[in-house]
Amino acid sequence: MAEKSPAADVEAGLLAHLNSAGEVPDSRSFASSLGVSHLELVGVIKSLSAFRIVESKDIIKEAWVLTEEAKGYVAKGSPEAQLVAAIPPEGVSKDALKAKLGDAFDVGMKAAARNKWIGFEKGNKDLVLRKVESVMDELQEQLRRLENGEAVPDKVIDDLKRRKLIMKEKSIWHSLKKGPEFVLKRKTLATDVTTEHLRSGDWKDLEFKDYNYGAQGQPIAKGYVQPLMEVREAIENIFIMMGFTEMPTNNFVESSFWNFDALFQPQQHPARDSHDTFFLKAPATTQQLPEDYLEKVKLVHQSGGYGSKGYVYDWKRDEAEKNLLRTHTTAVSTRMLYKLAQEKPFAPKRYYSIDRVFRNEAVDRTHLAEFHQIEGLICDYGLTLGDLIGVLEDFFSSLGMSKLRFKPAYNPYTEPSMEIFSYHDGLKKWVEVGNSGMFRPEMLLPMGLPEGVNVIAWGLSLERPTMILYGIDNIRDLFGPKVDFNLIKSNPLCRLGL
Ligand code: PHE
Repeated sequence: MAEKSPAADVEAGLLAHLNSAGEVPDSRSFASSLGVSHLELVGVIKSLSAFRIVESKDIIKEAWVLTEEAKGYVAKGSPEAQLVAAIPPEGVSKDALKAKLGDAFDVGMKAAARNKWIGFEKGNKDLVLRKVESVMDELQEQLRRLENGEAVPDKVIDDLKRRKLIMKEKSIWHSLKKGPEFVLKRKTLATDVTTEHLRSGDWKDLEFKDYNYGAQGQPIAKGYVQPLMEVREAIENIFIMMGFTEMPTNNFVESSFWNFDALFQPQQHPARDSHDTFFLKAPATTQQLPEDYLEKVKLVHQSGGYGSKGYVYDWKRDEAEKNLLRTHTTAVSTRMLYKLAQEKPFAPKRYYSIDRVFRNEAVDRTHLAEFHQIEGLICDYGLTLGDLIGVLEDFFSSLGMSKLRFKPAYNPYTEPSMEIFSYHDGLKKWVEVGNSGMFRPEMLLPMGLPEGVNVIAWGLSLERPTMILYGIDNIRDLFGPKVDFNLIKSNPLCRLGL
C-alpha cells in the first residue's frame, strides 16, 4: 500500500496537478494516484472550495456493490462450486459435507442439484456423489464482473438481488477545476500572535485571519438548576409575596399519629395500609407523642365531640405509634397547627411547605414512589370557602393558571373539600392541579385552636406543574436516575407561564 501523505501534501499535489493539467475529472482515481483515501482528498477539496481556490462538481452514481456474503463467494467460489469441489470421487456423507461447508451447505446443495452437478447413491440418500468432472462457476464469474464495474445482464442482476448478494449503493465523487481564487500554494493565515512571532519579528509580515464574530462561544462550564428546583423557587417566591412563612419539613420519617390520626383519618382507612404507605421496620414505632393531645384525638375518633359523632370504633395507640415515611406534607401542617394552638393568645398565620413525600405506588410515567408536595394553609378567624377560592385564584394565577374550576371532593380531614382544575392553553384541556379544603373541627378543636378559627388549605405536587411547564411527559425524565443532564443544561432560561 502507498504511504499516506499528510493533508498538506495532498493539497500541494492537487494544486500542482490542477496547475498543469487544468482539471481532475474523477476525484476517486486521482486519490488513488496520490495514494490517499478518497475521504482524505474530499476533506482537502472541501477546504479549498470554501476559499474558491478550486471549483468542484458533484458526480453522483448509483452502483451495485457486493454484500459480505458475495465477497466471500468471489474469494472462495460459489456455495455450489465449493460443494462440488469438496466431494471426493467415491462420494461423501451429507454430514461430512455440512461440517466442511458450514453456512454454504444448504444453498450449495440446492443449487448444485438444480445444476445436476451432484447425485445420490441408489438406496442411500445420505451419500452425495459428484456427477461432473469440473464445473464452470458462473456465479463467481458474474460477481467478479460486477465488482470490476463490468456490464452484467439485467436478468443476472435480478437474480443476484433476490439472493441478497448485491445491493445498490450511492457513491459521490467530484470533478475539479481551478477556481477564481486559484493559487499554487495557499498562504496560511496566522490566528494568534505568539512570543515566537514577537521574538523573530515575523509578525510584521504575517497575514492574520479575521475574527469570526458570528461564531458560537464555548458552552460555559457551570452548574445548572434542576427544573424541579427552579419551579420550587418560583413557587416559594409566590408564597412569600403572598405573606406565607415556611414550615420546617426536615422529617421524612413521621409517626402515623401525625400523618393520619391527628388529621382525623380513621385507623381502618385504606391509605393506612402497607400497600399505600411505606412503614418503617426500625425504629418501627415512635417514642414520643403529646399525651394530653393524644387523649383528645383518641376520643374524637372513638366518640366524637365538638358537635361530631366521631367514627365510633376502638382507637388503638399501637396503630398511631407506627412509624412511616410521610405520605403528605399535611403531616407537617398538622404539627405546625398544633404548635400554633399552644401559643396564647392566638395569632393568625399563613404557612407553606415544599418537600418530599412517599407513597407505596406502582411506578409509571406519571407516578413515582416519592415526589414533592407543595402545601399552603391560612389559619384565621371566620375564614370561608370563598376565602379559599380567592386565595387559590391568587396563587394559581401567579403560576400562570388563571382559569380555575373546582369540583367537590372528599378528604377525611377537610370539609368541604375541592379538587382544583386549571385550563391548560397548550394542552387545550382541563387538568387537575391540586386538592384543597377547610380542615374539619374534629382536627382543629382537639389541638386547642380557639372556636371560630378556621384553616383553609391546599396541596399539589411539584412535579405536575413542572412537567407541564417544561413539556416533559414522563416523570422519570424529570426525577431519578434516568434524568438526562443535557436536558437540564439546555432548558430555556425563561419559560412562558411562570
Ligand atoms: N394532603 C392532600 C394530598 O395529599 C392535599 C391537601 C392538603 C388537601 C391540604 C387538602 C388540604 O393530596
